[in-house]
Amino acid sequence: MIVECLVTTLAESGELNVAPMGPRFGDDFDWQAPIGGTFHLCPFEPSRTLDNLRMVRTGVLNFTDNVLLLAQMALKADHVQWPVSRAAEKIVGRCLMEAGRCWEFEVVSLTANGPRWQCNCQVVHTVEQRPLMVFNRAMHAVIEATILATRIGILPSEQIRDQIAALARLVEKTAGPEQQAAWDWVCHWVERRLSSEHNRSTSASSIHGEAQP
Ligand SMILES: Cc1cc2nc3c(=O)[nH]c(=O)nc-3n(C[C@H](O)[C@H](O)[C@H](O)COP(=O)(O)O)c2cc1C
Repeated sequence: MIVECLVTTLAESGELNVAPMGPRFGDDFDWQAPIGGTFHLCPFEPSRTLDNLRMVRTGVLNFTDNVLLLAQMALKADHVQWPVSRAAEKIVGRCLMEAGRCWEFEVVSLTANGPRWQCNCQVVHTVEQRPLMVFNRAMHAVIEATILATRIGILPSEQIRDQIAALARLVEKTAGPEQQAAWDWVCHWVERRLSSEHNRSTSASSIHGEAQP
């Protein structure tokens, strides 16, 4: 099973990095007694998370229902504040105060597997900070829209707009104010990025004489 969470890691300098990642758990993983259990992270190369895991070899899985935070950390918007964190208890790392649950882990082994690495990790300590929300379809819509946002420049713009329009129905039906705010933030980010991509490609084709007025 793959779940979505925020992985915090530290650079050798001590600088914090926060990135959404999907850790993979085997079918035999014991969710009731996670300490000692193992999972895989599959960070792309290049990424800060991968660099930090290779150098420092510890990190924290922060489980959250705050989809605005997840979107902002994925899209690395300039003006966004870094979330508040505290020192981890058993490893070199930091736990996000906004997370419901923090699992501190150590890297057992790292293997290059094409552009995506396989990082085998072991849970060494867990902290429950607050209860997490139950299923909400609008939250899933925000996560999917965030993933689409990371694919701007890879997928055609129309495909991204169509898929976001389909997800909007889930938000209209099921969002509370926090999910609505997260949805609005992601949609605004996507529209800004799509327009600047469009302007860049229009000016590139006009330089090459393809779109003269
Ligand atoms: C829900 C979600 C799950 C993601 N899972 C992964 C993942 O498993 N591996 C990965 O390399 N990137 C994943 N990403 C993309 C990274 O978060 C994104 O590339 C980020 O910019 C990497 O940041 P870093 O350079 O700070 O490590 C995911 C993004 C989202 C929104």
